[in-house]
Amino acid sequence: MKSKLFTSSQQRGIQLNIASRPLQFIAGLSALVFVLNFTLEVLVSYGASYVHLVQVLCLIGILSVWVLVEDLLILRLHDWSLFRVLTFLLMIQLALPILRMGFLAFDSQAVSSEWLPHTQEQDNWHYLFLAPYSLIFMGIHRSIVSLFTLNEKVHAQNTEKQMLMTLNALALARDNETGNHIIRTQNYVKSLALRLRMMGHYVKELNDQCIDTLYKAAPLHDIGKVGIPDNILNKMGRLSDEEWQIMKSHAAIGEAVLSSADIEVGGDQGVVKKAIQIAGGHHEKWDGTGYPRGLKGNEISLSARIMALADVYDALVSERVYKSGWSHEDAVKEIVSKRGIHFDPLVVDALIAEQSNFQEIANKYRDN
Ligand SMILES: [Fe+2]
Ligand SMILES: [Fe+2]
Repeated sequence: MKSKLFTSSQQRGIQLNIASRPLQFIAGLSALVFVLNFTLEVLVSYGASYVHLVQVLCLIGILSVWVLVEDLLILRLHDWSLFRVLTFLLMIQLALPILRMGFLAFDSQAVSSEWLPHTQEQDNWHYLFLAPYSLIFMGIHRSIVSLFTLNEKVHAQNTEKQMLMTLNALALARDNETGNHIIRTQNYVKSLALRLRMMGHYVKELNDQCIDTLYKAAPLHDIGKVGIPDNILNKMGRLSDEEWQIMKSHAAIGEAVLSSADIEVGGDQGVVKKAIQIAGGHHEKWDGTGYPRGLKGNEISLSARIMALADVYDALVSERVYKSGWSHEDAVKEIVSKRGIHFDPLVVDALIAEQSNFQEIANKYRDN
């Protein structure tokens, strides 16, 4: 299933986000070019041989061309007048080493011409002007590029925010669970993730950004219910085997719906990427008896393993038309009995340590 679910403005946002990467790239390269330029002048001051100078000049020339090509590529995508000025300055920067290189390589007399200083006094003045010039130019270039990058980042974040609001509304509209279920599970997930990290587990995966992404992605875990017919989704009584099979397909549908968006907002750490893992994996079980893929242990993404426990805990303690809510103690007992069977043992340990927090969340966001 491969369909485009997003509007052109959202696609533009994604495109801009991609364009922000060369900007950072250019900033780094520009800095290198100017540092090399400065190094060249230092080499001259210490009387380096002109062969070495030509080599350094060649390197500066190549890097300048590279930077220029990147600039021109960005200008093809965006009409940024400030960026045009920057590109023009880079062209001048490129022209200078090329001219110098030509003089040095093909005309040994040029060494004594005004293209290069040839007395100690001229050297000193030359460096006096050139060093701050290089540094200032580098600083200005870096600032402008940062400004553009920041704008791009803000734009991408806004796009992501709008998209998540839309997806959340869609998930909620089709979910047979309450709105508070979404808020509770979102908070349970965060509390488990923080506890796991505190206990020294999955420390690398559970950095602040990852936990924040997990928190934002959690409400989308059942978005696949958009593909489940009303008569099954809202059925009061027990589902037949056939209906249950259809109901179970929500995990695969959720993963497919989110994947079909084909979005890369925020790269690998993006909320949609995380939501894909959660939607597709939150009904997998540690022992491999879950669905849709029957994944085992660490084959299931950590996000989905955390989500699975949060989702089940909330389902157990919540009251439904067909069942009364379990006590917190009974729910924890049930989950602990499934440690290493249904749930990641370490996530169960995190629940045991986070019990008071879970109760607090359950009370705070109780269904009316
Ligand atoms: Fe689900
Ligand atoms: Fe759920």
